[in-house]
Amino acid sequence: MAKFLVQKSAPLRGEVKISGSKNAVLPIMAAALLTEEKCVIKDVPALRDVDVMCRLLESLGAKVEKDLDNNRVNIEASGEIVYEAPFDLVKMMRASILVLGALLIRTGRAIIHLPGGCAIGKRPVELHLKGLRALGVTIDEEQLNRGIVDASVEKLQGDTIYLDFPSVGATEVIIMTAALAEGTTILENAAQEPEIVDLANFLNKMGARIKGAGTDTIKIEGVQKLKGVSHHVIPDRIEAGTFMVGAVMTGGNVLIKNVLPNHLKAVIAKLRECGAYIEMTEDGMRVRGDMSTLRSTDIKTLPYPGFPTDMQSPFMALLTVAKGPSVVIETVFENRFMHVGEFNRMGANIKTDGNCAIIPGNKALTGAQVVATDLRAGAAVVLTGLVADGITEVSQIYHVDRGYENFVDKLKALGANIMRVDE
Ligand code: UD1
Repeated sequence: MAKFLVQKSAPLRGEVKISGSKNAVLPIMAAALLTEEKCVIKDVPALRDVDVMCRLLESLGAKVEKDLDNNRVNIEASGEIVYEAPFDLVKMMRASILVLGALLIRTGRAIIHLPGGCAIGKRPVELHLKGLRALGVTIDEEQLNRGIVDASVEKLQGDTIYLDFPSVGATEVIIMTAALAEGTTILENAAQEPEIVDLANFLNKMGARIKGAGTDTIKIEGVQKLKGVSHHVIPDRIEAGTFMVGAVMTGGNVLIKNVLPNHLKAVIAKLRECGAYIEMTEDGMRVRGDMSTLRSTDIKTLPYPGFPTDMQSPFMALLTVAKGPSVVIETVFENRFMHVGEFNRMGANIKTDGNCAIIPGNKALTGAQVVATDLRAGAAVVLTGLVADGITEVSQIYHVDRGYENFVDKLKALGANIMRVDE
């Protein structure tokens, strides 16, 4: 099993270029199934999840040309499409559910075993299904009780759909499906994440008529056909946020390139509350920290534009060493404090009560054997290892491979003392 060995490091310094967004590229790749023509997707990060999505699309009948050395994937779904997604791939990645709408459009049927991914809460799909039912899709309830989504449709018809919670995945599946339904769909209380906007831009280039993506109400006028297009994926705001936190908590000075500051307003505001210096320059975002004046702050995760749940664990890493106590409240996932146990092994002394964590801060951490309990938590314990005395050994790093392109090399280029050991 591969591991990271992390040692106390000098403040991070230099430049880092952010990769394309994992959470944007996965739905865009799924949406490429909606046309028989070839789609060219650029700025695709070389990640395990992208690899799984390529294999999934291939298994469904698409021709996938993957050139991840050049961050490019071509997808052409001109042939016959298979409606059942193989369980061995679906169980590796929750985002597999994103092919649901495209399978229904192309074949009138979709069978997907309920997906895996990070073990952060129940992560059900009832909102995806509620939306699809409104569009005329029938879900086999008996199969659903066994954990299998078996959906079929004769004719997709637009409708008004209200999401009880602004689920990112449900919003994406619904807009992809409604794009080729008859008539108009209005999606209310939709997720507003930048990745939804990127998907809508991709679909609109293909010929879809989607308005309002990035707000809580999205209007989709169904069209009959979509065409193949070329698209650049937006930069990964969570990867950027992770490096920003790393720069600040090590007292470093890093220029973050290929970043959209508008996508990071909450993270920027919270880092400034902690005493960070953050400025946009012509070359990118300059982020500086000073460990002697690093202050605590409180955080509550929320759907976008609130503080992102995916930044909760990296930010908690910073709060363990900031001066003074902090409170972190997680409202998006019901079980996203697994990393607390790992921080505590290093001496963070964090207490949790339900969805609330109290971080005393001001800790001199020591290296320990820790586990990447999920994708973002894996990055978070690495950041903690950079400021802890001794060696931090991080196992189960396949989680990190799912979502951070060249994480070790990028950190090393900034002066971090980290190596990957493949045992
Ligand atoms: C996406 C992101 C993930 C991020 C999350 C929240 C991708 C590939 N992944 O995941 O990195 O952490 O958004 O920003 O884009 N829920 C329900 N019923 C549903 C659907 C969701 O209760 O039908 C709940 C989930 O259990 C969870 C919350 O809503 O507690 C957020 O889920 P959702 O927004 O759907 O996240 P994902 O699309 O899975």
